Amino acid sequence: CGIVGYVGPRPATKILVDGLARLEYRGYDSAGLAVAHRKALRTTRSVGRVDDLRAALGEDESPGRTGIAHTRWATHGEPSERNAHPHTDAAGRIAVVHNGILENADELRAKLVADGVTLTSDTDTEVLPHLVARALDGGASTLEDAVREALRVVEGTYGLVVLDARHPDELVVARNGSPIVLGLGDGEMFVASDVAALVRHTRQVVFLADGELATLTAAGYEGSRLGPPTTVDIDDADYELDGHADFLSKEIHEQPAALRRVLAGRLDARFATARLDGLRLDPRELRGIRRVTFLGCGSALYAGQIGAGLVEELARIPADAEQASEFRYRNPLVDPETLYVAVSQSGETIDTLAAVEELQRKGGRVVGVVNVIGSAIARQCGAGMFLHAGPEVSVASTKAFSSMATSFTLLALLLGRVRDLSAAHGSRLVEGLRRLPDAVETALQTSDEVAEVARRYADARSMFYLGRVRGAAVAREGAQKLKEISYVHAEAYAAAELKHGPLALVDAQMPCVVVVPDDELLAKNVSTIEQIRARGGPVIAVTNAELPEGLADAVLRVPRLEPELDSIILGVPLQLLAYHCAAVLGRDIDKPRNLAKSVTVE
Ligand code: G6P
Repeated sequence: CGIVGYVGPRPATKILVDGLARLEYRGYDSAGLAVAHRKALRTTRSVGRVDDLRAALGEDESPGRTGIAHTRWATHGEPSERNAHPHTDAAGRIAVVHNGILENADELRAKLVADGVTLTSDTDTEVLPHLVARALDGGASTLEDAVREALRVVEGTYGLVVLDARHPDELVVARNGSPIVLGLGDGEMFVASDVAALVRHTRQVVFLADGELATLTAAGYEGSRLGPPTTVDIDDADYELDGHADFLSKEIHEQPAALRRVLAGRLDARFATARLDGLRLDPRELRGIRRVTFLGCGSALYAGQIGAGLVEELARIPADAEQASEFRYRNPLVDPETLYVAVSQSGETIDTLAAVEELQRKGGRVVGVVNVIGSAIARQCGAGMFLHAGPEVSVASTKAFSSMATSFTLLALLLGRVRDLSAAHGSRLVEGLRRLPDAVETALQTSDEVAEVARRYADARSMFYLGRVRGAAVAREGAQKLKEISYVHAEAYAAAELKHGPLALVDAQMPCVVVVPDDELLAKNVSTIEQIRARGGPVIAVTNAELPEGLADAVLRVPRLEPELDSIILGVPLQLLAYHCAAVLGRDIDKPRNLAKSVTVE
């Protein structure tokens, strides 16, 4: 979900709606705003996208100069106008926009109803304006005090902004588990759940920490324990399509540049290793690590699986990747000699953040690999690697995914070089990594061919994605990409598992995408392809090897560098395949149904 707020000298409505459009990728089933003018609130809400809200507003713009707005991704209650934010109290005096989940909402709702309050939505959020209004009626002297009082009885997570019609010159914001960022303007203040909505106006921001509250006025902000302002290095232009049809295509094509940034200053040719000072681990500590466990969700998890393979291969220490959501709940054994790596593009995914907190509680050592600077996971870890991939807007992750995999190659190289990995092997990798962005650039040139393949197969009901060892995790990510954006079902298998069950499903209607690295398992993969073809299954081979003529129905070829880099390069045609299938099927590529970019609720 996305939050925007404004207080200053300009009419608020346009600023709010433009801000929401920037945040639409965070959730998009309904939207709304409230603007204060002459001690009354004007609230407009609508189902659908921000454009639907624009249409609902029409020409009838309030001159009010303070307001709050929200774009929603439903958790409690179906997407509908009455469930859209902002929510207000009975008198229409207090309006609240809220991200997160209030866990004791049912209980609070029941109490309010017992006291004679009529609730008009099915949401957890609606209790907040009522609680704030009560605190004010009960004598709270400021809006901030009233919000603090209301939050005392609330359990759960929130990032919220509160507007009071009788105090139209201020906003109160609070954070617990859901991001809130203040934007410092000149004689005006902004607030949002994501810097994306702020950088058009200012690059000076303050990230709220959990438990913090603040009051914003046109003149500035006040709050206890707030950190100092920081300057974010993001341009508003980073959120423009810049000639591309959609953000996904833009971000897929930005990968060479993103990988150059993730590598910048981190390759050490002299000692044939990687320089990762942000980890804050000295060589003795690095040698003391006995295992590496990656934790993440979605694409971050698949990237972690690639990372685990690389750490085992290069550093020869056990490594694995686990769903952060499972980790936090299954009472894991936390081992002081394991390096835990929390992986997250947004740095806000609640499951991953909660896994980090659980680990830290139990004395685990955890570093973050995160794209968004200032995000909750980055701050909670305090050490790690930033990806510097630039803002990723499309819901499906591409450039962040390949940047994660690249950063794990660096980590594996570093861990390898304080163990058994030879200088010669390290040098080959350093050189391979240096050439990686160009190889990805070349891999992107398969786009037209992939589009042709997509035209042939996009109408399939289901596809298999198969790969072995270095090709296995990226096959999983490929299948995930296809599901996410084209809504075509896909399932990934380790290639050898095919004959243990799924082969029963292979026929002319089941295209199989086979990832074929040019490595020691090439012959095995060729034989997998033959088995599929023998059952009449169409095969799309994604490879950097020379395959026998006529082996597959379609062959997508990419460059070959070092074998350890195969999965990053082979992943590119898989991204393009999902993209083109979605395009052929006319899907909403950047905003697939039911999904959100960053899931800050459970
Ligand atoms: C959501 C997104 C996925 C993403 C996952 C983890 O489910 O739809 O694309 O991979 O969250 O996000 P993170 O920001 O933690 O990498």
